[in-house]
Amino acid sequence: MRKKLVVGNWKMHGNRASNAALLAGLREAGPWSADVAVCVPFPYIAETALALTGQAIAFGAQDCSAHEQGAFTGEVSSAMLADLGCRYVIVGHSERRAFHAESDQLVADKAKAALAHGVTPIVCVGETLAEREAGQTETVVKRQLAAVIHTLTHCIGEIVLAYEPVWAIGTGLTASPEQAQSVHAVLRKQLQAATQKADAMRILYGGSVKPDNAAQLFAMPDIDGGLIGGAALKAGDFSVICRAAA
Ligand code: PGA
Repeated sequence: MRKKLVVGNWKMHGNRASNAALLAGLREAGPWSADVAVCVPFPYIAETALALTGQAIAFGAQDCSAHEQGAFTGEVSSAMLADLGCRYVIVGHSERRAFHAESDQLVADKAKAALAHGVTPIVCVGETLAEREAGQTETVVKRQLAAVIHTLTHCIGEIVLAYEPVWAIGTGLTASPEQAQSVHAVLRKQLQAATQKADAMRILYGGSVKPDNAAQLFAMPDIDGGLIGGAALKAGDFSVICRAAA
């Protein structure tokens, strides 16, 4: 039995005052029976850690460097994230793949760097609308996951996977539970061929998950929780989604 996981991806939102209010709201709303985490902008990780002391809410970052350390101006290493107490780091989010030209291999290398420091990578895969309409959904997500499997080899069982159809992110268009489930099943099968841990691994769905559609999505057999963007910025909405992941 997989325990569900709900992760808030704050993206580039917030400030010290609004974050404090959001985290206070989450402290009040919890605990939930699912595992819950928030992935916050780098400058706010330390304050988030402080605000969540003693709480059953984990925290993490939204990206990390593939490099260990060195002359990489502006980058943040997974060792630094581990030093701050991060449990998770999102890698390969479609916004990074699209706006920062991150390749499948770079995403895999970032996942490897995170694991090397005990930070669990939440590896995102997903197809664009054009790819879906061209019937390439399976090919695309399998190619994205294959790079991670080849790079992590026997450690692949340690990641969290997130299926995020690009056309559903921030658009209000959600994949139907059946559409999402069918991709999750493909991904589970690919993991099963790579590791005996596949049945214990969590595959999250992300893309316009809201309080009113979360329960149907989380009821699907291979959907083990959610990666939540917009709705993670409101404590009330996020809490309802966490509760739906019972
Ligand atoms: P959304 O974002 O919930 O706002 O669609 C999800 C994500 O990008 O992780």
